[in-house]
Amino acid sequence: MRSLIDIIDLSVEEIDSLITTANDIIANPDKYCEKCNRKKLATLFFEPSTRTRLSFEAAMLELGGSVIGFSGADSSSSAKGESVSDTVRTVGCYADIIAMRHPKEGAPMIASMRSSVPIINAGDGGHNHPTQTLADLLTIQREKGHFDHLTVGLCGDLKFGRTVHSLIHALSRYEGVQFIMISPDELKIPDYIVHELETAGIPYTETRSLEEAMPHLDILYMTRVQRERFFNEADYIRLKDSYVLTPEKLTPAKRDLSILHPLPRVNEISVAVDNDPRACYFKQVLNGKFIRMALILKLLGVE
Ligand code: CP
Repeated sequence: MRSLIDIIDLSVEEIDSLITTANDIIANPDKYCEKCNRKKLATLFFEPSTRTRLSFEAAMLELGGSVIGFSGADSSSSAKGESVSDTVRTVGCYADIIAMRHPKEGAPMIASMRSSVPIINAGDGGHNHPTQTLADLLTIQREKGHFDHLTVGLCGDLKFGRTVHSLIHALSRYEGVQFIMISPDELKIPDYIVHELETAGIPYTETRSLEEAMPHLDILYMTRVQRERFFNEADYIRLKDSYVLTPEKLTPAKRDLSILHPLPRVNEISVAVDNDPRACYFKQVLNGKFIRMALILKLLGVE
């Protein structure tokens, strides 16, 4: 039985295969509409979500399966003190596969050690978000056709941004990829990831200036400064407007730049950018559903 806790649980070949399946689902949705008949997905979300939870649910419904779950810790027995382990052992009696989001880093991994059904990490604290990365990779593949030799700018909250951490781990495995980390000093990429990049000899630079980085980028991955990760409201208020992408700031960008954002956004991308053909963040949302369909099929062992 396979779970997905970290993006590097999947080999490059497995990711290629998921992307191939997702592209086939996009081209031939009818082929897949009964693949999960009589299968149930449980979505256990101990933290708020719009895209991840609803895309998992839409994915399972479009595969012909059904969905159970909860969308907040307060509406489950965790509010009475039940452990994550006991919750997943219970839910495994009702469902064939579980997607779990939890504010504590490592909670989905602990759950996977106790569960009788596959667990999918749908985001754990500021740590990892592997299925967002699968959505990001499908989007990059469909926009660029390849992952090799891309210059990827990561902008905003690189400290707590779990989507950034997972995306770096995924893209680091492709030839010639380099990263430009754009953040205020207080939200720099964690030391453990810097250490991993240096050990693997993967080129990266760090800057506070989005303007300086812009002309070099093939991918610009914007992120939100996450109020919910700060201990101190004053720090959040000081940092929240560090970067606001506007059409003017895109003037020096490449014509084939792809602008990604895991969403939700607050104000870090002006709505005026949405009409730019380089804006891909709503395509990412849709791609997230298709790649989650492919992942559910793989983890359930459905041909
Ligand atoms: N990208 C993402 O994880 O969005 P939600 O928090 O809405 O699920």
